Amino acid sequence: MANKPKMKGLILAGGSATRLYPCTAQISKQMLPVYKAPMIFYPLNILIKAEIKDILIIVSPAHSGRFVNLLEPMFRDFGIRILSTVQEVPNGIAEAFILGEGFIGNDNATLILGDNIFEDVETIAKAIKNFKSGGHVFVKEVTDPERFGVATVDKKGNVINIVEKPKKPKSNLAVAGAYVYDNKVLEFARKLKPSIRGELEITDINRAYLRRKKLKMNIVNGEWLDAGTPDAYLDACNLAREKRLYDNFDPIIKKAIEKSRERFKEQAKKMLR
Ligand code: TTP
Repeated sequence: MANKPKMKGLILAGGSATRLYPCTAQISKQMLPVYKAPMIFYPLNILIKAEIKDILIIVSPAHSGRFVNLLEPMFRDFGIRILSTVQEVPNGIAEAFILGEGFIGNDNATLILGDNIFEDVETIAKAIKNFKSGGHVFVKEVTDPERFGVATVDKKGNVINIVEKPKKPKSNLAVAGAYVYDNKVLEFARKLKPSIRGELEITDINRAYLRRKKLKMNIVNGEWLDAGTPDAYLDACNLAREKRLYDNFDPIIKKAIEKSRERFKEQAKKMLR
């Protein structure tokens, strides 16, 4: 009998980050500090809370190496493997599954956008752990749904429809930047064609699952932010402080940070000698 598929984790941390320029001229957006930790630690926390052991970070060419240099030694001792690959051009969110094909292999995959900060980490981590097959998205009630992919859902947690940036939204449920899929995602991703804006769209992947009536969802509570604009970035920092998001990081992350802080202090002492 074939092995049960594992869950692999992907964080999409490429993109152009033009809305945060010039703060992102030399530093990747996902490395900017969100209160006590670089932004990437927040999506990473969800994957680690969901007990995922293999994580691929997708980065832009300008920042290749940086994420893995920081994170791989930090998490190696905790049995968590962190790899990275370069996305040459920001061709769209769904390209993650083309770039990550070899990494995903025959397994399932969770993708989280590197600039999305969720307060309700527990709901997402639980859904990832309980995932069996099909696709699973997370929706959040918002006051300005026309800016997002908008989902209509039924009481059983099925997604009935998703419309990208609708002029007249049928609900106030925005699809947030965390997606869980079975291995069929690789086949769906291979068949994608660029949209009018020239990107491989995650909505098209979700629609492939929808057509087969295999897209489920959870509503996430608390705040959800895409920290991509100056105001949203500041809100993310304030949220992290006010809701003590760092204190609620998975114990593995807190231990990994403490261990690497000790190494960092040792190195600093050696430099002074
Ligand atoms: P966006 O915020 O939509 O795009 P961006 O980060 O390039 O920013 P801007 O609009 O200010 O130029 O991207 C959402 C997340 O997905 C973010 O973490 C970057 C990532 N991303 C990629 O890594 N590759 C891509 O092709 C796209 C579209 C996004």
